[in-house]
Amino acid sequence: MTLSDETRTAIERLVARFPERRSALLPALKLAQREAGYLPPETIAETANLVGVPHAAALEVAMFYTMLHTRPGPATRVVVCAQLPCALMGAEALIRELRGALESESIEVERTSECFGACHRAPMARVGDMYYENLDAQGRQVLIAELRAA
Ligand code: FES
Repeated sequence: MTLSDETRTAIERLVARFPERRSALLPALKLAQREAGYLPPETIAETANLVGVPHAAALEVAMFYTMLHTRPGPATRVVVCAQLPCALMGAEALIRELRGALESESIEVERTSECFGACHRAPMARVGDMYYENLDAQGRQVLIAELRAA
């Protein structure tokens, strides 16, 4: 799959903003994934070429970060932080509730060991680039309603 001119331009603009081209790799891969839905090898290679880094470096980044996907998956991934602060605030119950309410062929709920960096607003979930904080009973219902309506 070849990236669109729009995404290629967005990546080139992104690269120009960083003093070190390599620093743009992660956000560039996120842009590529937004278009493709995931990062197949040819998209990783194309992104690496645009950023100006070796393909292997881009592949390492794509495989390291849980927000990047090298295989096709469901249309929507709900990722719940399960690190200690979120766990103490009910992450496992949140995962069970979201799975019970949402999981289907098009929506997958998964836990991650990656802290989302806002532990004081636990428990948290990420859907695409959107972060949902303070997912108490009311917050969960809002999230479930949003995802069902999408
Ligand atoms: Fe969940 Fe930090 S532990 S956001």
